[in-house]
Amino acid sequence: MIVRHHHVLTVIRKIERLTAGISRFELSDPDGWELPPYTPGAHVDVHVDEHVLRQYSLCSDPQDRHRYAIAVKCEEQGRGGSQRLHATFRVGREVCLSLPRNHFPLPPTDEPLLLVAGGIGITPFLSMIGELERTRRPFALHYFCRNRMEAAFHDALEAGGRTHFHFSQGHGGPRRNLVDLLGAQGWRHAHVLCCGPQSLVEDVGQAAAILGLSFQFERFGGIRHIDNDDPGYVVRLARSDRDIAVPAGQSMLSALREAGIAIDASCEAGSCMRCKTRYLAGSVNHRDLVMSASERAQFLTPCVSTCLSNEITLDL
Ligand code: FES
Repeated sequence: MIVRHHHVLTVIRKIERLTAGISRFELSDPDGWELPPYTPGAHVDVHVDEHVLRQYSLCSDPQDRHRYAIAVKCEEQGRGGSQRLHATFRVGREVCLSLPRNHFPLPPTDEPLLLVAGGIGITPFLSMIGELERTRRPFALHYFCRNRMEAAFHDALEAGGRTHFHFSQGHGGPRRNLVDLLGAQGWRHAHVLCCGPQSLVEDVGQAAAILGLSFQFERFGGIRHIDNDDPGYVVRLARSDRDIAVPAGQSMLSALREAGIAIDASCEAGSCMRCKTRYLAGSVNHRDLVMSASERAQFLTPCVSTCLSNEITLDL
């Protein structure tokens, strides 16, 4: 069972089918009170049921304190959470959420922004656009999708006139030269924000580096969970002077729990950062979807990260 920390009880007020596989769910307080505030780019943990927790970006307007919206793609090849959500979420159902958290905020500068979305990675940008328009901050949004029919929010974005659509027309279609694309605006000091699958994030990150633009991302999908090919290793706990063996195929989190070490955790997929732990020595194979390089130099996420050396030392 999932432990509920500070949570927000909401009711589903409206469900809107955006594409064949994506629906938008609008949630509000059961008694009509204001919901906790959030900033553009924030997400919530959604308790799909007693055992399933998933993270979704808020795609509503942060200035509207009476509703949250999330858009969820039913992932046929996923872990089952989005399928369960689509199958069980109905208007009138109560849904428990975490407080909003933001790992993908707007950068606190006034540089122009190049926003790059891949598929359902469009969602965090929807909460940003209103803020960018209100503050008249220059931005361009590039939206990569397989085709027009799969592009959620297509009509609203097209009407807004700031979105460049790029349709691949099928699996793995050609992706336009990203250096040309990001450079086309002619902004020498723009900040690039990208949300999408890992391959897009990597390609956009490389293009941003070539152009000398600062880069920030949020990834989803393609999370590699612990598998049997991951070799075993030892976790040394510096403060309690204990060694704990992590056998091949077991997560560091589960080995620590079995040894009686209490570690807070939620998503167990490298995205909520609840299990984030400081490490002191060892070589880490980071698999979280959130941390920057500087954070990764100090912290790991034991739910998904593994060890590239024989031993790793945690500050526990
Ligand atoms: S439990 Fe969410 S990142 Fe580890």
